[in-house]
Amino acid sequence: MISQKEYWDGRFKKGKLWGDQPCPSAYRTVSYLEKNCSNSILVPGCGYGRNSAYFAKNGYDVTGVDISHEAIKHAISDVKADVTNLNYQLKDLFSLSSIGTEFDAVFLSNVIHLFLEKDRAKLVQVMDSLIKPNGLFIFTVISRSDSKNFGVGEEVEQNTFLHNEKVLHFYTTEEIRGILPSNYKILEQELHTQTEKDPLGNEEELILWFVVTKNNKHFSL
Ligand SMILES: C[S@@+](CC[C@H](N)C(=O)[O-])C[C@H]1O[C@@H](n2cnc3c(N)ncnc32)[C@H](O)[C@@H]1O
Repeated sequence: MISQKEYWDGRFKKGKLWGDQPCPSAYRTVSYLEKNCSNSILVPGCGYGRNSAYFAKNGYDVTGVDISHEAIKHAISDVKADVTNLNYQLKDLFSLSSIGTEFDAVFLSNVIHLFLEKDRAKLVQVMDSLIKPNGLFIFTVISRSDSKNFGVGEEVEQNTFLHNEKVLHFYTTEEIRGILPSNYKILEQELHTQTEKDPLGNEEELILWFVVTKNNKHFSL
């Protein structure tokens, strides 16, 4: 299996794979950020920055992180000189606990399902370590109801397939609660369809869970 870095560098070499528009989930996220008085947002696995740039335009302080040099290169080249609330870092998200900052919200779009079970659990732990008490953890993952994509490729773990060199885990309704630490309250868990069009005009449709959760951990003195 090739590494995430190699895989995504290879894909982003071809450009901005899904255009400049933010994901439907990013639009839906902004109302939660407003309601929760969020200011600082972490976007791990930000790709070339289509969602990070949108949050920054809406006035939030945004940090985008990705392991792909090609993705970060595209993202940085789009940041205008006078923009001070958007920064990008080339980093492995599994090493983020050491950055020593907590955020009001984490927005993780289409990343968790790219890993095998052990790493998915580790990833959620890392995200938890980066979210302030009362902060938001908002994510999208592929649903088990995505019947077009489910079952394509070799099944390497339960509901997990090696699909064109990439791992894809398909989440059931019940599974979402199980991946979250007990102090996270689910505010919304809903299916939506995301249609992506690559620069050659090929369309890909994904059925995703949009999950909004709040960290109800109390401040410790
Ligand atoms: C499906 S893409 C989603 C990109 C972006 N969130 C979006 O919706 O446009 C997954 C992204 O996760 C990044 N990624 C995968 N593994 C990573 C890791 N260990 N650390 C940081 N980024 C990673 C990839 O480079 C890629 O940009």
